[in-house]
Amino acid sequence: MSPARHRKTSPALRAGAATAAIGAATLAYAAGIEPTRWTLRTAELPVLSRDARPLRVLHISDLHMLPGHTSKQRWVASLAELEPDLVVNTGDNLSHPAAVPAVLRALGPLLGVPGLFIFGSNDYFGPKPKNPARYLFERGENRKLIHGPPLPWQDLRAAFIEHGWLDLTHVRTTITVAGQKLAVAGVDDPHLHYDRYSAIAGRPDASAALRLGITHSPEPRVLDPFASDGYDLVLAGHTHGGQLRVPGLGALVTNCELDRSRARGTSRWSADMWLHVSAGLGTSPFAPVRFACPPEASLLTLVPRGSTPAAKTGGSRFNAGIGVR
Ligand SMILES: [Fe+2]
Repeated sequence: MSPARHRKTSPALRAGAATAAIGAATLAYAAGIEPTRWTLRTAELPVLSRDARPLRVLHISDLHMLPGHTSKQRWVASLAELEPDLVVNTGDNLSHPAAVPAVLRALGPLLGVPGLFIFGSNDYFGPKPKNPARYLFERGENRKLIHGPPLPWQDLRAAFIEHGWLDLTHVRTTITVAGQKLAVAGVDDPHLHYDRYSAIAGRPDASAALRLGITHSPEPRVLDPFASDGYDLVLAGHTHGGQLRVPGLGALVTNCELDRSRARGTSRWSADMWLHVSAGLGTSPFAPVRFACPPEASLLTLVPRGSTPAAKTGGSRFNAGIGVR
C-alpha cells in the first residue's frame, strides 16, 4: 500500500472546499433559479373609508425588462386572471432601449384595467455597471448617480395613456374605480431627485373611499408629507426588497433612506398611513441575482378601516405564484 493512500486532507482544507462548494451552489441558485421564481405577494390592508367596498389592487414594479425576458412577460400577462380592480405600476419598467414592446406584451392583458403609473430612474436612463459595494457604503446625498443612455420612456408613457392608464407624475386628482371615488397623487422619481412634492401638496378629497399616493423610491422625505396630508396608503418600489437578503437578517440595503425593515411588504408609516413596498420583478442586467427575495407582484385587498383581520405591520404572506414560468 503506497504512502499516498494514508495521506489525510487537513480539516482546514476540507472546510475551505466545503465553503467554496456552498458558495458556488448559492451563486448558481441566486443567478440561475431565484430571478425567475415568480411570486405573488398578497396582503389585506384596512385603509378604505368605513362605508367603502373592498378593492383589489395589483401592484407591479421594477420590471427591468429586456426583450428576451419571455418568462417574465408570460407570468406578468397571466396576472390578468386575478381580475384586479386597479393596477398600480411604480416604475423601473425598462432595461433596454428596445424593451418597450416587451413591457407592453407583459402588461397588455392588464391595460384594459384602470391603471396608475409613475416612472423610475430605469425608465429614464439605461443601466450601467456599478460597484456593488457602493450600495453598502454610499448613502443619501453622498451617493453618486450613475446614468446610462436615455431610454424611450415617452413611448411607454404614450402607450400606457393610449390604453387609459393615468400618469400620476406630479398629478393630484380623483378617479372612479369599481364605482368608488379614489383620491390619487404621485411624484416623479425621488431617487433621481426629480420629486417636487409641492406640486401635489394639500389634503386629498376627504369624501373619497381611498386616498392613495404613489412614488418610485420610498424616500422618507416623500412619505412624510403624504402622511401629514392625510393619505391612507402609499405604494412604492425601487428597493428590490434588498435583492440579496440574509435569512434571519433580511435586507442589507434599501438603496434609499428607508429603513431596512421596510425593504419589502406592508408597514405602518404613521398612525393613519400604510406603506407597501414591492420587491419588484427584475434586477439590473449587470447584477442579475436574487437571494431569499424572489421577484414579485402584489395583490392588495383593501378593506374598510376597522375590518378584521387587519394586516400586520410588515407582515405579508407569499404563495407559490400563479404558475407560468
Ligand atoms: Fe429597480
